[in-house]
Amino acid sequence: MHAASMLVLSIVFLMSVNPAISYCPTSGIYLRHRGRCYYNGSYFWDSRIISRRVDCRINLATLSGGEWIGPAGKMPCPGDKTNIRCSLYQGTAPLRISLYIPNYGGKYLLPSGDGWYKCCLPTNCSDPNTNIIFANIFRYAQIESFYAADLPSDMTVYPQKYKVHCTKIGHVSYSISLDLGSSTFVSYTNCNDGNNSPCP
Ligand SMILES: *[C@@H]1O[C@H](CO)[C@@H](O)[C@H](O)[C@H]1NC(C)=O
Ligand SMILES: *[C@@H]1O[C@H](CO)[C@@H](O)[C@H](O)[C@H]1NC(C)=O
Repeated sequence: MHAASMLVLSIVFLMSVNPAISYCPTSGIYLRHRGRCYYNGSYFWDSRIISRRVDCRINLATLSGGEWIGPAGKMPCPGDKTNIRCSLYQGTAPLRISLYIPNYGGKYLLPSGDGWYKCCLPTNCSDPNTNIIFANIFRYAQIESFYAADLPSDMTVYPQKYKVHCTKIGHVSYSISLDLGSSTFVSYTNCNDGNNSPCP
């Protein structure tokens, strides 16, 4: 895969790549999905969030704002953008503001919604005293079109191997890195399509 404008990055993902935290925090802001809590900066595959919420939570019952801001801007909440729906819950603690893809019409995340989502609670991101956490929601449909055969057939068994295939378009020079929280898995800088740099 050395086509000039295509970047293919293969990474072996073990469970440790998007590890669940073994306990859920009792204070502060945190992410929760399918009954588990996740670190700041965790990745969520769009097909895994169809009708299964990614919650941004805080152990408070009173909301005085709160929002998710994604690659396509502020998420209307309640509301929909880039096929992702935002919902809001407050009542007893923890309050939560959640993202998921509604399970109808076979919809997946739109390309404009692929990327980093910033959650702020219990007040909006414009409040300097708010709590902030990040999640990366990425598209599956795009990956499927390249290497469906490499994907695990049973998505519920861990550890799993994933290949992440990125198609780069645009400028010939680029940098790429894959981070999890504060640890960097892969990092290439000063890459260029036109030379034989060791970049993928
Ligand atoms: C803060 O968030 C709340 C709830 O999403 C919203 O109703 C309000 O308009 C937001 N305020 C600002 C200044 O963005
Ligand atoms: C998550 O990471 C961002 C950026 O590094 C930071 O500003 C934020 O405080 C972190 N949130 C938590 C809960 O650690």
